[in-house]
Amino acid sequence: MEARSCIDRDPFLTSICRAVNQRDRMPGTLVVRDLNDAGWIDEFPGHYDVVAAVNALHWFEAGRATKVVEDVHGALRGGGIFLLAEPAHPERPFAAGFEEWKARQPPRYARENWERFWSRANALLGYDHTTLLGSRDGNRIGDDMSVAGWIRLLDQAGFGVIDVLLRDADQVVIAALKSNDPE
Ligand SMILES: C[S@@+](CC[C@H](N)C(=O)[O-])C[C@H]1O[C@@H](n2cnc3c(N)ncnc32)[C@H](O)[C@@H]1O
Repeated sequence: MEARSCIDRDPFLTSICRAVNQRDRMPGTLVVRDLNDAGWIDEFPGHYDVVAAVNALHWFEAGRATKVVEDVHGALRGGGIFLLAEPAHPERPFAAGFEEWKARQPPRYARENWERFWSRANALLGYDHTTLLGSRDGNRIGDDMSVAGWIRLLDQAGFGVIDVLLRDADQVVIAALKSNDPE
Protein backbone atom coordinates (compact mmCIF):
# COMPACT_ATOMS: atom_id res chain seq x y z
CA MET A 1 0.00 0.00 0.00
CA GLU A 2 1.27 3.45 -0.86
CA ALA A 3 2.00 5.62 2.20
CA ARG A 4 4.06 8.71 3.09
CA SER A 5 5.54 8.92 6.60
CA CYS A 6 7.43 11.75 8.26
CA ILE A 7 9.60 12.46 11.30
CA ASP A 8 10.74 15.76 12.82
CA ARG A 9 11.10 16.86 16.43
CA ASP A 10 9.12 20.01 15.59
CA PRO A 11 5.33 19.40 15.55
CA PHE A 12 4.92 22.27 13.06
CA LEU A 13 6.93 20.35 10.45
CA THR A 14 4.99 17.11 11.01
CA SER A 15 1.72 19.09 10.80
CA ILE A 16 2.77 20.20 7.29
CA CYS A 17 3.19 16.49 6.40
CA ARG A 18 -0.24 15.76 7.89
CA ALA A 19 -1.83 18.52 5.78
CA VAL A 20 -0.14 17.32 2.58
CA ASN A 21 -1.15 13.71 3.28
CA GLN A 22 -4.74 14.79 3.95
CA ARG A 23 -4.78 16.77 0.71
CA ASP A 24 -3.48 13.77 -1.23
CA ARG A 25 -5.63 11.26 0.75
CA MET A 26 -2.39 9.47 1.58
CA PRO A 27 -1.90 7.41 4.75
CA GLY A 28 1.38 7.53 6.65
CA THR A 29 3.01 7.50 10.08
CA LEU A 30 3.76 10.94 11.54
CA VAL A 31 6.30 10.98 14.35
CA VAL A 32 7.40 13.91 16.52
CA ARG A 33 10.71 12.69 17.92
CA ASP A 34 14.36 13.61 18.29
CA LEU A 35 16.54 11.79 15.75
CA ASN A 36 19.25 11.65 18.42
CA ASP A 37 17.09 8.99 20.15
CA ALA A 38 18.58 5.61 19.27
CA GLY A 39 15.25 3.85 18.66
CA TRP A 40 13.72 6.36 16.22
CA ILE A 41 13.79 3.93 13.31
CA ASP A 42 11.58 1.45 15.24
CA GLU A 43 8.71 3.89 14.57
CA PHE A 44 9.00 2.99 10.87
CA PRO A 45 8.75 -0.78 10.43
CA GLY A 46 8.68 -2.16 6.92
CA HIS A 47 10.72 -1.55 3.83
CA TYR A 48 10.53 1.81 2.13
CA ASP A 49 10.95 2.64 -1.58
CA VAL A 50 12.24 6.18 -0.97
CA VAL A 51 13.48 8.14 2.04
CA ALA A 52 14.20 11.87 1.69
CA ALA A 53 16.04 14.18 4.10
CA VAL A 54 15.99 17.89 3.28
CA ASN A 55 18.21 20.35 5.11
CA ALA A 56 18.16 18.26 8.27
CA LEU A 57 21.35 16.16 8.47
CA HIS A 58 23.71 19.13 8.65
CA TRP A 59 22.22 19.90 12.09
CA PHE A 60 23.85 16.71 13.43
CA GLU A 61 27.36 15.84 14.50
CA ALA A 62 28.98 13.70 11.73
CA GLY A 63 28.98 10.41 13.69
CA ARG A 64 25.29 10.74 14.54
CA ALA A 65 24.42 11.72 10.95
CA THR A 66 26.19 8.57 9.68
CA LYS A 67 24.25 6.43 12.19
CA VAL A 68 20.94 8.01 11.12
CA VAL A 69 21.79 7.28 7.47
CA GLU A 70 22.75 3.68 8.39
CA ASP A 71 19.28 3.35 9.98
CA VAL A 72 17.74 4.73 6.77
CA HIS A 73 19.75 2.20 4.73
CA GLY A 74 18.32 -0.59 6.91
CA ALA A 75 14.76 0.69 6.43
CA LEU A 76 14.94 0.77 2.61
CA ARG A 77 14.09 -2.21 0.42
CA GLY A 78 16.79 -3.46 -1.95
CA GLY A 79 16.70 -1.08 -4.93
CA GLY A 80 15.25 1.68 -2.71
CA ILE A 81 16.58 5.24 -2.87
CA PHE A 82 17.75 7.74 -0.29
CA LEU A 83 17.46 11.33 -1.48
CA LEU A 84 19.48 13.96 0.36
CA ALA A 85 19.41 17.76 -0.03
CA GLU A 86 21.90 19.65 2.14
CA PRO A 87 24.12 22.72 2.10
CA ALA A 88 27.51 22.10 0.49
CA HIS A 89 30.76 24.01 0.41
CA PRO A 90 33.67 23.42 -1.98
CA GLU A 91 36.84 21.70 -0.76
CA ARG A 92 39.47 24.21 0.40
CA PRO A 93 41.62 24.37 -2.81
CA PHE A 94 38.55 25.27 -4.87
CA ALA A 95 36.90 27.63 -2.37
CA ALA A 96 38.28 30.96 -3.65
CA GLY A 97 37.28 30.37 -7.29
CA PHE A 98 33.92 28.98 -6.25
CA GLU A 99 33.17 32.00 -4.03
CA GLU A 100 34.01 34.29 -6.95
CA TRP A 101 31.48 32.43 -9.14
CA LYS A 102 28.91 32.28 -6.31
CA ALA A 103 29.04 36.06 -5.84
CA ARG A 104 27.76 36.42 -9.41
CA GLN A 105 24.81 34.01 -8.89
CA PRO A 106 21.34 35.28 -7.94
CA PRO A 107 21.02 34.93 -4.13
CA ARG A 108 18.71 32.06 -3.22
CA TYR A 109 18.97 32.32 0.55
CA ALA A 110 19.23 35.34 2.82
CA ARG A 111 19.47 34.99 6.58
CA GLU A 112 17.24 38.08 7.03
CA ASN A 113 14.46 36.42 4.99
CA TRP A 114 14.80 33.22 7.03
CA GLU A 115 14.59 35.20 10.29
CA ARG A 116 11.62 37.26 9.03
CA PHE A 117 9.71 34.12 7.97
CA TRP A 118 10.33 32.23 11.21
CA SER A 119 9.66 35.15 13.57
CA ARG A 120 6.21 35.46 11.89
CA ALA A 121 5.68 31.67 12.09
CA ASN A 122 6.80 31.63 15.75
CA ALA A 123 4.28 34.37 16.58
CA LEU A 124 1.46 32.34 14.97
CA LEU A 125 2.59 29.01 16.48
CA GLY A 126 3.11 30.33 20.00
CA TYR A 127 6.52 28.64 20.42
CA ASP A 128 9.99 29.25 19.07
CA HIS A 129 10.61 26.80 16.22
CA THR A 130 14.24 27.86 15.92
CA THR A 131 15.15 26.41 19.35
CA LEU A 132 14.22 22.96 17.94
CA LEU A 133 16.73 23.31 15.11
CA GLY A 134 19.59 22.87 17.57
CA SER A 135 22.68 24.91 18.20
CA ARG A 136 24.52 26.59 15.33
CA ASP A 137 27.75 26.02 17.28
CA GLY A 138 29.44 22.88 18.52
CA ASN A 139 30.35 19.90 16.41
CA ARG A 140 27.42 19.86 14.01
CA ILE A 141 28.23 19.38 10.32
CA GLY A 142 26.92 22.84 9.43
CA ASP A 143 27.31 24.47 6.03
CA ASP A 144 30.94 23.52 5.44
CA MET A 145 30.69 19.89 4.28
CA SER A 146 31.77 19.38 0.67
CA VAL A 147 29.81 17.34 -1.88
CA ALA A 148 32.60 14.73 -1.61
CA GLY A 149 32.10 14.74 2.19
CA TRP A 150 28.37 14.00 1.82
CA ILE A 151 29.17 11.21 -0.65
CA ARG A 152 31.71 9.73 1.81
CA LEU A 153 29.09 9.77 4.56
CA LEU A 154 26.60 7.91 2.32
CA ASP A 155 29.30 5.43 1.33
CA GLN A 156 30.18 4.79 5.00
CA ALA A 157 26.50 4.19 5.75
CA GLY A 158 26.41 1.35 3.19
CA PHE A 159 25.17 2.92 -0.05
CA GLY A 160 26.87 1.77 -3.26
CA VAL A 161 25.57 3.68 -6.27
CA ILE A 162 25.60 7.40 -5.43
CA ASP A 163 25.07 10.32 -7.80
CA VAL A 164 24.85 14.11 -7.60
CA LEU A 165 21.55 15.14 -9.20
CA LEU A 166 21.97 18.86 -8.72
CA ARG A 167 24.50 21.28 -7.30
CA ASP A 168 24.08 25.06 -7.10
CA ALA A 169 25.92 27.80 -5.25
CA ASP A 170 24.60 26.65 -1.86
CA GLN A 171 23.11 23.19 -2.00
CA VAL A 172 23.58 19.68 -3.28
CA VAL A 173 20.94 17.05 -4.07
CA ILE A 174 22.29 13.49 -3.97
CA ALA A 175 20.57 10.18 -4.70
CA ALA A 176 21.89 6.94 -3.19
CA LEU A 177 20.70 3.48 -4.14
CA LYS A 178 20.49 0.53 -1.77
CA SER A 179 21.90 -2.51 -3.49
CA ASN A 180 19.62 -5.44 -4.29
CA ASP A 181 22.43 -7.84 -3.33
CA PRO A 182 22.07 -9.56 0.05
CA GLU A 183 24.58 -8.07 2.56
C1 LIG B 1 16.07 23.62 7.99
S1 LIG B 1 14.74 22.67 8.62
C2 LIG B 1 14.22 21.72 7.25
C3 LIG B 1 12.83 21.24 7.42
C4 LIG B 1 12.25 20.45 6.23
N1 LIG B 1 12.98 19.23 6.05
C5 LIG B 1 12.24 21.30 5.00
O1 LIG B 1 13.09 21.12 4.12
O2 LIG B 1 11.38 22.19 4.90
C6 LIG B 1 15.62 21.50 9.62
C7 LIG B 1 14.68 20.55 10.34
O3 LIG B 1 15.46 19.60 11.06
C8 LIG B 1 14.78 19.32 12.26
N2 LIG B 1 15.72 18.78 13.22
C9 LIG B 1 16.91 19.32 13.62
N3 LIG B 1 17.48 18.56 14.55
C10 LIG B 1 16.64 17.50 14.74
C11 LIG B 1 16.68 16.36 15.58
N4 LIG B 1 17.70 16.17 16.43
N5 LIG B 1 15.67 15.47 15.52
C12 LIG B 1 14.63 15.67 14.66
N6 LIG B 1 14.52 16.74 13.84
C13 LIG B 1 15.53 17.64 13.89
C14 LIG B 1 14.23 20.66 12.70
O4 LIG B 1 13.16 20.52 13.60
C15 LIG B 1 13.79 21.26 11.36
O5 LIG B 1 12.45 21.00 11.08
